[in-house]
Amino acid sequence: KPEFSILILGGDGIGPEVTAEATAVLDVLSSHPNSRATFKLVPRLFGGCSIDEHGVSVTEETLEQGRQCHAILMGAVGGPKWDGKRRGFEGPEGATLRLRQVTDVYANIRPAEYFPGGRSPLKEELVRGTKFIVLRENCGGAFYGPKAEEPDYASDLWAYKRSEVERIARMAAHLALSPAVPVPRVISCDKDNVLASSRLWRRVVQETITKEFPQVKLVHQLADSATTLMMMKPSSFNGVVVADNTFGDILSDLAGVIPGTLGVLPSACLADIPVKKWGDKPVKGFYEPVHGSAPDIAGQGIANPIGAILSAALMLRYSFGMEEEAKAIEDAVNMTLDSGLKTKDMSGSASTKEMGNAIREYLRKRHVPN
Ligand code: NAD
Ligand code: IPM
Ligand code: MN
Repeated sequence: KPEFSILILGGDGIGPEVTAEATAVLDVLSSHPNSRATFKLVPRLFGGCSIDEHGVSVTEETLEQGRQCHAILMGAVGGPKWDGKRRGFEGPEGATLRLRQVTDVYANIRPAEYFPGGRSPLKEELVRGTKFIVLRENCGGAFYGPKAEEPDYASDLWAYKRSEVERIARMAAHLALSPAVPVPRVISCDKDNVLASSRLWRRVVQETITKEFPQVKLVHQLADSATTLMMMKPSSFNGVVVADNTFGDILSDLAGVIPGTLGVLPSACLADIPVKKWGDKPVKGFYEPVHGSAPDIAGQGIANPIGAILSAALMLRYSFGMEEEAKAIEDAVNMTLDSGLKTKDMSGSASTKEMGNAIREYLRKRHVPN
């Protein structure tokens, strides 16, 4: 039986609260008599709590653990305690930025899906049937270009190399052909009317996908008007919405309007095309819910753990090829929601622990493969 090592980074605010529910889900699978793998969990401080303890948001030792382990599960980092003192790469958020960089997890997968009971501010008939993935380039562009910061001048270089665009275009096409989306379509968002880096982006996405994936329909969309369209007609984005680091950051948060709460959205950052089947070599992945550390509700035990739990499911699917187990977790989440249990962000009253326990109860009852 293989043992997969997972670096566990609870982080700050509600991060540790929701991560505990996700690791408990992994424990249920590990200890199941039919489980086909076990998980070795390696916890470390990350973000603001690491600044308090070690003086840096992520230690060299933790970065090394990130390189060594099979996958990483993170809660969220940051909060008012550290705001204003250190920002960017020096602040709590810098821990995430650096770990993404050293593990080269270039593909940030953020699914957006209509959730019954999610309290979407959009009309039900508009959002029903919406299912797409925002695929954000995660290791290049303005986030990682050389920076200048002086009192009266600052710059972030927004640059891409052909090879960086090629690999994210391939990932987009690969995901467009997977069951995670209802149609084999890629919607690439850029600003090629203004930005030189967007012109390279559009040209390379077009070449790569039409040459290597003729069965995928490719559409180009300007990133600014994409935001309006996404709210006016969300299901017209069904497929994979691919964008660079900056536009992808914004579009993926915007897509959070569709389920109506950030609390249920998982994400995955991958260093390679996902594992195809059980037994293949694991693919390094960095998994985290889309939401932040939610300082307004931290410590109250009311955060929604579903985003974190579904992130663990994505880990099993993409990094380890454990499709049945991933599906079992997703089914358990759906059964729990169908039973009417909701956390406060979904207009219910269940606590973080009650929600986690209910999901694990459904998971235990479900068949887990041999
Ligand atoms: P946030 O996602 O933390 O919170 C936005 C709103 O959503 C809040 O009202 C919060 O209570 C609610 N919310 C978020 N997650 C929830 C959950 N699981 N259950 C119930 N409600 C939930 O965004 P923010 O307020 O802009 O950022 C707070 C801090 O988090 C900042 O320091 C920011 O830099 C950091 N942040 C970190 C990450 C990360 O580590 N991945 C991502 C985004 C923001
Ligand atoms: C996200 C967050 C991060 C980002 C921050 C916290 C560094 O907003 O994961 O989307 O900008 O990538
Ligand atoms: Mn963001």
